[in-house]
Amino acid sequence: MSSVCLDAAPACPYFWAKTAGAFSLSKPDDIATLTEAAAKAELARLAQDLALANTAYHQADAPKMDDASYDALKRRNAAIEEKFPHLKRDDSPSDRVGAAPAPGFSKITHAVPMLSLANAFSDEDVHNFAERVAKFLGLTPADLRFTAEPKIDGLSLAVRYEDGVLVHAVTRGDGEVGENVTANVQSIADIPKSLEDAPALLEVRGEVYMAHSDFQDLNKRQADSGGKVFANPRNAAAGSLRQLDPAVTKSRPLRFFAYAWGALSAPLADTQMGSVQRLSALGFSVNPLFQRFETVDEMLDHYRVIERSRADLGYDIDGVVYKVDGLDLQARLGFRSTTPRWAIAHKFPAETAWTRLVDIEIQVGRTGALSPVARLEPVNVGGVMVSNATLHNEDYIKGLDSKGNPIRDGKDIRPGDLVQVYRAGDVIPKISDVDLTKRTNPDRFDFAQKLQTLGIDGHRADGDAVWRYAGDGPMDAVAIEALKHFVSRGAFDIEGLGAKQVEMFFDDPDLPIKTPADIFTLARRDADNALTSLAKRSGWGEKSANNLFQAIEDKRKIPLHRLIFALGIRHVGEAAAKVLAQTYGDWDSFREAMVAASPDTPARADLEDVDGIGPVLAASVVAAFQTPARLADIDALAAHLDIQPAQQRAQSDSPVAGKTVVFTGTLEHMTRSEAKARAEALGAKVSGSVSGKTDLVIAGPGAGSKAKKAADLGVETISEADWIALISTS
Ligand code: IVH
Repeated sequence: MSSVCLDAAPACPYFWAKTAGAFSLSKPDDIATLTEAAAKAELARLAQDLALANTAYHQADAPKMDDASYDALKRRNAAIEEKFPHLKRDDSPSDRVGAAPAPGFSKITHAVPMLSLANAFSDEDVHNFAERVAKFLGLTPADLRFTAEPKIDGLSLAVRYEDGVLVHAVTRGDGEVGENVTANVQSIADIPKSLEDAPALLEVRGEVYMAHSDFQDLNKRQADSGGKVFANPRNAAAGSLRQLDPAVTKSRPLRFFAYAWGALSAPLADTQMGSVQRLSALGFSVNPLFQRFETVDEMLDHYRVIERSRADLGYDIDGVVYKVDGLDLQARLGFRSTTPRWAIAHKFPAETAWTRLVDIEIQVGRTGALSPVARLEPVNVGGVMVSNATLHNEDYIKGLDSKGNPIRDGKDIRPGDLVQVYRAGDVIPKISDVDLTKRTNPDRFDFAQKLQTLGIDGHRADGDAVWRYAGDGPMDAVAIEALKHFVSRGAFDIEGLGAKQVEMFFDDPDLPIKTPADIFTLARRDADNALTSLAKRSGWGEKSANNLFQAIEDKRKIPLHRLIFALGIRHVGEAAAKVLAQTYGDWDSFREAMVAASPDTPARADLEDVDGIGPVLAASVVAAFQTPARLADIDALAAHLDIQPAQQRAQSDSPVAGKTVVFTGTLEHMTRSEAKARAEALGAKVSGSVSGKTDLVIAGPGAGSKAKKAADLGVETISEADWIALISTS
């Protein structure tokens, strides 16, 4: 059996333990005598082991299984299936011929997306939040009540109960799809396995975390046994929950605070406060510092109480979360693309540390931006080792902000300086201060000079803070970064085609990948060149080559938002890509609209009207589609793909789903923002101008030219009251 594992047993305990004694590869003929029960159990084991082998295969430092053993396991699986065809599993490895590796955990789509929170960094930000909320609702901050509670620094988890029984537990993942960690939460005492008097469907959300004392014990045990020592409790909690072997999770003491919910068959209460109390009554652990307040000043006082008790809590928190208390108001406020309007995280001030700036390097971005990066002597900043920090741009290094005002008291930054590094939440570390008394370098950093030394042709336009690549033709480094982005996690996420492989293929004389479209011709080009085929190369082989081709093949079918994000257009992150996909629905409509959206056209006005798309972003997307070479690349790529239209999360059965509506005049029952958000949540597209494409105009008192244009075009026009009646039927 040891042949299954290439590595020595201690380095490869998992396959050793999983396969040794479980079945024998050396005696395949015992299948004749296998009982049905034994066959069923073995098929389950084989499915799991082969899936694990696939995963391990793609992880550089994970245990490996050699090709011969892998094939032997697959043959055995096939032989058992042949004898017991009715036992063939839905996830049978036989159906995954040369397929991309099965990920270690199965994936579950969240019934209600798991969102993140917008951040506030100052008292003023919190006052602004309350003002914003009140304004959206047409109220004043004094009309509102908010809850405040610690923001736990762990990882969020959704636990679903049906008829009071725990059916699954899922990590946040990308917010839409998470990992099924049901087996692992069985050992978390704070998570009840069954509930009494709960709604028939109840999905409880909260944070998994590790207490300081448990973290220290765990790290001590890990160090004693030569295992991995974790940098901080959050990493330890994440590493422990995401264990393929539930026995490992069980040996790691994890805890859970419930603070929210997802899918529900009946409301828990009519306020945030009441709902959390109900969760507590159902047996969940809720945070003792959770409280409700009448005014923003009281909330801010509570923030300070929590901040002062931070060191004594026994677990990590990184701020305070405020939520609008009334669930009716939360429903009216709704969501932006990735965050609720009714909540905000007030972050604690960043952690800082001093270290030496070793050098300033230039990073080439996928859009051609040439960004300075600080290489630091590694330093621990609040539990995380930091060795890089962003320096933003040339002016930032000089000690100037975007308006030319001094930052850091105008101190510039030079290689060799002793610098103060800070980290706020998950954001990239930054440099907040320089100790001039320790400065030894007599020369200011010269950006242009640095580019020259590196042989990079750069240009900084008037009014632009950023130096950009200005050479002829696309710079290889830019093309490579764009490709890396294209295959990255939120984009095409192609197994086996990561940053390393992108660099390798870019310069490959026989099988080059220079543009995204080249990825999708790789298999065909490889087949045409039998002499230099991937399978014959060292480090590859038939199986790995086929795995890669299959992984690429699997991604021809791609959701629209992933494709838009993958294009690597400046300013278009995952959130904006999702908004664009939702707005335009399918690829052809999106492409057509972007090509048409020159300045001062209705298409451009519609684009800029979309919530979450500003004029800068709009100009950037349109520029990509209106640059002929760029559009040619995009079209060449799209020709290889099967682009999936955006899933309409909004209620498609609502009477306004898919309709383009325009609000004009004064609305008396809700603010314009609320009306727009509500219409969009019901699947309508809200436009600022009336055109032939408009389906419905909602005209309040004082409506002028838009109502007239609607009448001229014969577009249906209704009053606000009619509108409210219309949408309340859905
Ligand atoms: S409420 C719709 N409350 O912070 C948003 N989140 O930065 C529901 N978190 O993804 C989240 N403590 O993982 C909420 N008391 C708390 C929290 C909390 C920690 C996490 C959560 C969320 C992240 C956003």
